[in-house]
Amino acid sequence: MKRRSIGIVAALILVLAAVSLALAEGNARKGKYLYRSKCRTCHGSSASDLSPNSKVQADWKKTFAKWEGVKCAKEWKDISPEDRTDIYTYLHDYAKDSPTPAKCN
Ligand code: HEC
Repeated sequence: MKRRSIGIVAALILVLAAVSLALAEGNARKGKYLYRSKCRTCHGSSASDLSPNSKVQADWKKTFAKWEGVKCAKEWKDISPEDRTDIYTYLHDYAKDSPTPAKCN
């Protein structure tokens, strides 16, 4: 009985850890969709052809940590923090030095 409850507590901790990790990292699939609808409208035509593989992961991290300093920051102001995290996750997870670099097309 006692051992079983320890097992349950351990399983709960694992689930909570997995959930918080998923939240902190954002949703790359949603991010890809958001990037295409909110960023690709300019990037690739009127602005630089920006894709996940345009930068290394550390550069995406820096860019999003100080996104207010990006030249087009005023275009980002109606993007919620959650959506911004998802866009970041997509760009970061498919960056030039990631295991799965991606080009937008
Ligand atoms: C209304 C057009 C427009 C939209 C929408 C837009 N940008 Fe930009 N962005 C620009 C322009 C113009 C520049 C500055 C010149 C350039 O880099 O082409 C720029 C510059 C940047 C830069 C700096 C340049 C670089 O290569 O590091 C980044 C990063 C960036 N944008 C990311 C984004 C992201 C992410 C989104 C979506 C959340 C976005 N932009 C939405 C027009 C836009």
